[in-house]
Amino acid sequence: MNFEILGTGSYVPEHVVTNDDLSKMVDTSDEWITERTGIRQRRIAVAEATHDLAYEAAKAALADANVEPNELDMILCATISSDLASPSTAIMVQKMLGATCPAMDISAACSGFVYTLDVAAGFFARGKVKKMLVIGAERLSKMLDWEDRATCVIFADGAGAVVLGEGEAYLSSKLTTKGDDDVIKIPNYIGLSPFSTLEEEKPCINMKGREVFKFAVNAMCNDVNEVLEQAGLNQQDVSYVIPHQANLRIIDMVRRKMEIAPEKYCHNIEKYGNTSSASIPLVLDELNKEGKLKTGDYLVLSAFGGGLTTGACVIQWTK
Ligand code: UT7
Repeated sequence: MNFEILGTGSYVPEHVVTNDDLSKMVDTSDEWITERTGIRQRRIAVAEATHDLAYEAAKAALADANVEPNELDMILCATISSDLASPSTAIMVQKMLGATCPAMDISAACSGFVYTLDVAAGFFARGKVKKMLVIGAERLSKMLDWEDRATCVIFADGAGAVVLGEGEAYLSSKLTTKGDDDVIKIPNYIGLSPFSTLEEEKPCINMKGREVFKFAVNAMCNDVNEVLEQAGLNQQDVSYVIPHQANLRIIDMVRRKMEIAPEKYCHNIEKYGNTSSASIPLVLDELNKEGKLKTGDYLVLSAFGGGLTTGACVIQWTK
């Protein structure tokens, strides 16, 4: 026993920041950002915290699934930008929904949503849950150095969620971790301890973009091939590839290296930028809302990010 998806939801802050807006803040241009990343605009939270974004996505997913908060047996949230060290974002959502089930966060950067689905599958396999809420929510704008043009044009805020019920739709998965704090690193505030000799580092996203790019293309091709093989499927069986939305050129390179039809690769990075663990559920919800998903469709999710982590899985759409 594992799970099937009962409903999806998503939420992005209202405030739109365009490439032209950013070119007034740092030495960049709409042309550079569009050509190098595919991003045209992004949503940046103004008055909302990460748990507010997560809550809105969760409410929408519950409504789509026709599930009440008191039916949930567990809430998991993938995030690296929780507002509080404790309670977690998942717990804040539990409180806001008025649910009573256990709740916790999982940190695996941009692979977080796929990692969290795999953790969820374990709870279903052990018979511990019948219904679960899985969220990916980020307010990355709080972790950006808004004077660093290499990162502030890329990352953004948003949330996506799914409600899971018992089923057999989670067909295969692969998670990898390659311990590395050089290519992508986000230091935390080190605290006020008078005993600490640790050096304070700027609590902002540091990234060697080119290295992540190369890592991502190879990892995604390998992971997608492996999860398809595990599921007993071939590339022609795939209905949609839902890749982490980090860079349209990464998606294009993967597309060129694989034999999956090009139109099956989904993207909305143009509108939302890179929202880390929220990016895959944001695309999934968009496909669902647009009525593009048909019962029996095979969806391949594939993510990569800080860690360095990667995660991929095949889910059959059963709604
Ligand atoms: O979510 C998972 C984590 N992150 C990623 O997946 C990111 C993966 N990497 C990327 O998406 C790309 O590497 C970036 C979009 C981050 C950068 O694109 P790139 O084509 O790899 O550019 P680059 O870093 O090699 O920089 C090329 C040039 C440099 O100038 P010089 O040294 O050639 O004179 C940069 O200083 O572009 C410059 N540059 C910019 N110029 C205008 C960097 N950022 C900007 C900018 N506007 N925003």
